[in-house]
Amino acid sequence: MKYRKIREGKVEIFIPDINKYQAPVFYNPDAEFLRDISVAVLSIFKEKIKEKINVLDALSASGISGIRYKKEVGNLNLTLNDKNKDAVSLIRKNIKHNNINAEICNEDANLLMRKRLFDFIDIDPFGSPCVYMDSVAHSIKFNRLLAVTATDTGALSGSFPNACLRKYGIRATKKQYYKETGVRVLITFIMNSLARYNKSFKPILYLSHKHYYRIYGIVQGSMHLTRQLKKYKYVDGIGTIYLGEIKDNDFIKKIIDKIREFNFTQSKKEIDLLNKILEEIDEPFYYDLNKMHIIKVPKVDDIIFKLIKRGYKASRTSLCGSGIKTNAKLKIKNGLLIVEK
Ligand SMILES: C[S@@+](CC[C@H](N)C(=O)[O-])C[C@H]1O[C@@H](n2cnc3c(N)ncnc32)[C@H](O)[C@@H]1O
Repeated sequence: MKYRKIREGKVEIFIPDINKYQAPVFYNPDAEFLRDISVAVLSIFKEKIKEKINVLDALSASGISGIRYKKEVGNLNLTLNDKNKDAVSLIRKNIKHNNINAEICNEDANLLMRKRLFDFIDIDPFGSPCVYMDSVAHSIKFNRLLAVTATDTGALSGSFPNACLRKYGIRATKKQYYKETGVRVLITFIMNSLARYNKSFKPILYLSHKHYYRIYGIVQGSMHLTRQLKKYKYVDGIGTIYLGEIKDNDFIKKIIDKIREFNFTQSKKEIDLLNKILEEIDEPFYYDLNKMHIIKVPKVDDIIFKLIKRGYKASRTSLCGSGIKTNAKLKIKNGLLIVEK
């Protein structure tokens, strides 16, 4: 295999020198944005735990995520796993090149997670994480950190209701707030998977970046399960889904500070996105002004200003540039946007 060297964060790794879709080992430069944020999230979590943690990068490919955790967060036991033999050879090369210690496994991630327990598991699959979540739920310890990526955004957000039902147990259909449907279906699925093992899930942060959804959260004990399940509600055209909080603002403020400290190449863009998420009100779903058949679409900020002036809660959403989150009920009358009394 021919390689080329790339730099990301504080590491330098080899990746296959070939188009990413034909490469024997996967590396996506677009995901640097998410990997930076993951480094910051793990770093904060680790400061809180104060003991050496066992980290599993379950689907490692080149090893980039795990190697960055070890180099940039530090002082952790790292396990890198991939079932692809070419990936494992490349991981070995990259570990050596970065002069770090790590355990390298060449197993089906599910088998590995059935045998071992971890303090942080990173699941970053091709497509859906659904086939891994049962093993994750077994393997992740209580009060520990979980990060899950999904790239099957069409299924999650309701474009393909049967695929959503098959993978996630929810037959979501496409709504104007489809991106948040995707985030909430994924969180509900993570929660349901953990709940089977008497574990609850406290979401910290959700990201929608290009064709990725990524969810971060803390796995907690069963004492929070009743409260969590009470936040499941029936939504027309989706089904029963978790409608509670999907972010933790105190944690997000710390992530922003951490990203400033790390000073990544894309720090500014990452902080801008996190600030948008921070400002979002905790109200499920959003209205997309561009999809409401308004004759003359008003400015998002003007509507938010007017709603707040009238005593409602309202904010933008990171998920849609023309979206508004509010506790007011908006509807269209004669082509005009009005608040339903
Ligand atoms: C999207 S890539 C991971 C990308 C990587 N996390 C990164 O940040 O660049 C998914 C990887 O999962 C591996 N994989 C797929 N199914 C697997 C399984 N059942 N067990 C272990 N690895 C698997 C593939 O070989 C591939 O390298």
